[in-house]
Amino acid sequence: MTAEMISDHEFSLFQELMHTLAGVYLPPNKKSLVWTRLSRRLRDLDMNCLGDYFRSINSGRNPLELQRAVDLLTTHETYFFREPQHFDFLVTPILSAPRTGNDFRVWSAASSTGEEAYSIAMLLMQQLGATQSWQVFGSDISIDAVEKARAGIYRTQRIEHMPDGYLQRYCLRGIGREEGTLRIKDEVIGHVRFAQINLNRPLPDIGTFDVIFLRNVLIYFDTPTRQQVVERLVQRLKPKGWLFIGHSENLGNVTTSLRQCQPSIYRRT
Ligand SMILES: C[S@@+](CC[C@H](N)C(=O)[O-])C[C@H]1O[C@@H](n2cnc3c(N)ncnc32)[C@H](O)[C@@H]1O
Repeated sequence: MTAEMISDHEFSLFQELMHTLAGVYLPPNKKSLVWTRLSRRLRDLDMNCLGDYFRSINSGRNPLELQRAVDLLTTHETYFFREPQHFDFLVTPILSAPRTGNDFRVWSAASSTGEEAYSIAMLLMQQLGATQSWQVFGSDISIDAVEKARAGIYRTQRIEHMPDGYLQRYCLRGIGREEGTLRIKDEVIGHVRFAQINLNRPLPDIGTFDVIFLRNVLIYFDTPTRQQVVERLVQRLKPKGWLFIGHSENLGNVTTSLRQCQPSIYRRT
């Protein structure tokens, strides 16, 4: 499978599609990645031309296949307790400060397959317990990722960054045919809800949050999209709420409604 099997024109069609739909900018060096990700799908559908595949998903008559293409063309790399400084910051100063409201809500706004949302939930279970009211909401544009997140089942190779004790306390190890997997315990899953949400569109009514994790997704957006997405999310932060972005990301001048407290940590003014 080589990049030559996708023409510049075909690549530009998918580039435009992903930008219009998801706000995702696919730079020219992603040409072979687009081919690699779509070619298997083409084989499954017994098609041999990306142009035909594009026309079928762009016709408006095949929304499920269009979603499938979006799922394939978005990058879902994630793992438990990624960028641990944010989890430390959640404990101190956020959770250690006196709180006014009685419901603590965190949104993992590009939750991929759920590892980020469950990392937050395990930490909140540890810090706040089952008696206090708290919720984690996870969302992603990819339906496939959201379904995997809802299942809460992972390969055990994925847990290397999980702090000691969390595995025993909040996960069940698979046995027999499920050997090599772990399942998040129901007591944690019960606090977590997932939905498919496209951050590049007006947001549904999901309430407001004390903390929003918007990590490792802004890198895929161009500056105007980044600006719109951040403005949209800031409206969903409670007053003085916190926004975390990935350590390799930068808000630059995208919003005046946030004050930077540390690199990658912002607070609503
Ligand atoms: C690299 S993962 C980041 C996962 C997690 N936040 C982390 O930091 O480990 C990026 C996720 O952003 C999602 N994504 C891309 N564009 C999106 C959009 N417009 N709306 C919602 N999610 C989007 C992708 O589907 C993917 O699951």
